[in-house]
Amino acid sequence: MSKNADLLTAQIKGAAGDAPVRAGLILGSGLGHIADSVDGVAIPYEDLAGFPHAGVSGHNPKLVIGDLEGVRVAVFGGRSHYYENGKPDTMRLPLEVLRNLGADTMIATNAAGSMRPDMPTGSIMCLSDHINFSGLNPLIGETTDARFVPMKDAYDPDLRAGLRAAADATGTDMADGVYAWYSGPSFETPAEIRAIRMLGADAVGMSTVPEVILARFLGLKAAAISTITNMAAGLSDEAISHEHTKAMAPIGAAKLEAILRRFLSELA
Ligand code: HPA
Repeated sequence: MSKNADLLTAQIKGAAGDAPVRAGLILGSGLGHIADSVDGVAIPYEDLAGFPHAGVSGHNPKLVIGDLEGVRVAVFGGRSHYYENGKPDTMRLPLEVLRNLGADTMIATNAAGSMRPDMPTGSIMCLSDHINFSGLNPLIGETTDARFVPMKDAYDPDLRAGLRAAADATGTDMADGVYAWYSGPSFETPAEIRAIRMLGADAVGMSTVPEVILARFLGLKAAAISTITNMAAGLSDEAISHEHTKAMAPIGAAKLEAILRRFLSELA
């Protein structure tokens, strides 16, 4: 773990207490408000030296440590993306800190475009796997043998079963599917969408994959849920824009929040 992660961990424990965190939640576009519902201590990213800027509108760039449904969590109200700074490992320091705080689990959320007619705007999808369509990797430059991270079952089967049970228990529809990481920040072309659909992707977005690779590298179990904010390029007449993403995210976000809360209350 880096020296900076150790310093930040001490700073965060000084503010929020020593009790170990169980799980980390990373909130995507239009989901940042969930951070505000945690009963705990909030620290703006700008007070955490070295934390990435996470400057995309619709995010809520603060770390909140506290209780959500009886589980001590670290909620990252916003993430930094590769497209903001050209660094695939832009979320490494926050995830190192999460590990240092005692967590064994990371749950990422994101907004995504859908390639499946049965998964329209407003639905949610639990990631079963991913396709790294960007070809980038956050572990490039890592020198230890730990860089050779196996990615089978990267989306932890037990966590996925727990999220599925939470969806069933709350009567919330949740699809299962494969997420393709496209670097952004421009959206995909219709030809690119046709290509990744043929390759086996169900949804597309600009985040999460590097975080899941880093989480597995750090020994964290990982899971992720997408909120579908639009049909992917060329699949409908719906607008594709960041404004549209932010406007549509709350529909899926309400479902996602219900599932996360139920999942955590079962964990407690
Ligand atoms: N493509 C990539 N990222 C996205 C999309 C999309 O269609 N919708 C929301 N985030």
